[in-house]
Amino acid sequence: MLNLGILISGRGSNMESILKAIKRKKIPINPAIIISNKPDAKGLKIAQKMGIKTEVIESKNFKGSRLDYDKKIISTLEKHGVTPKNGLICLAGFMRIISPEFVKKYKNRIINIHPALLPAFPGLDAQKQAIDNGAKYSGCTVHFVDSGVDTGPIILQLVVKVKNNDTEKTLSKRILAKEHKAYPEAVRLFAENRIKIVGRKTIIS
Ligand code: GAR
Repeated sequence: MLNLGILISGRGSNMESILKAIKRKKIPINPAIIISNKPDAKGLKIAQKMGIKTEVIESKNFKGSRLDYDKKIISTLEKHGVTPKNGLICLAGFMRIISPEFVKKYKNRIINIHPALLPAFPGLDAQKQAIDNGAKYSGCTVHFVDSGVDTGPIILQLVVKVKNNDTEKTLSKRILAKEHKAYPEAVRLFAENRIKIVGRKTIIS
């Protein structure tokens, strides 16, 4: 079976939605390891309660390059069976840019969720960007990670209407509810081998 590694930095609500769906919907993937770059990430406790292994690889004060840090992540993933042949990596609120070497090693095996309808509003504060730019719709995107920021082939998107009186907080909350549906669904599609990448696009069967 495929082995799943999830990288988090904080709350871990997307991680939780994936872990719950794996159990409930019998997604054919083994949740092997949760890795956080922050020791106080709330998601760590959630994972531990669910009986999933966790590791912390602290990025603050890390002595070494981005690549040195990523090599630590890679060796930890491999230790838990999340290999370039047999692994899937989900970035779930992992607030670090990963090195091109990491992306290359796990080509088309790293996916991310972003709280906007890419290619609109990449990068930080996507929900605020949607409001500030007067978007009428926003949502979330699950996509493969390539060497750019939020640029890889899109797997799926769910849409949210932006209301006149929305604040960053209210919009983020409604988008997050969609994220919790979209991410587990994308993991299921990957685990069932139903995603084909053709150039910059995906074809879902
Ligand atoms: C989510 O809204 C996710 O889309 C966003 O961080 C939040 C993490 O929440 N990710 C990004 O903005 C990445 N650019 P969570 O820790 O509860 O899953």
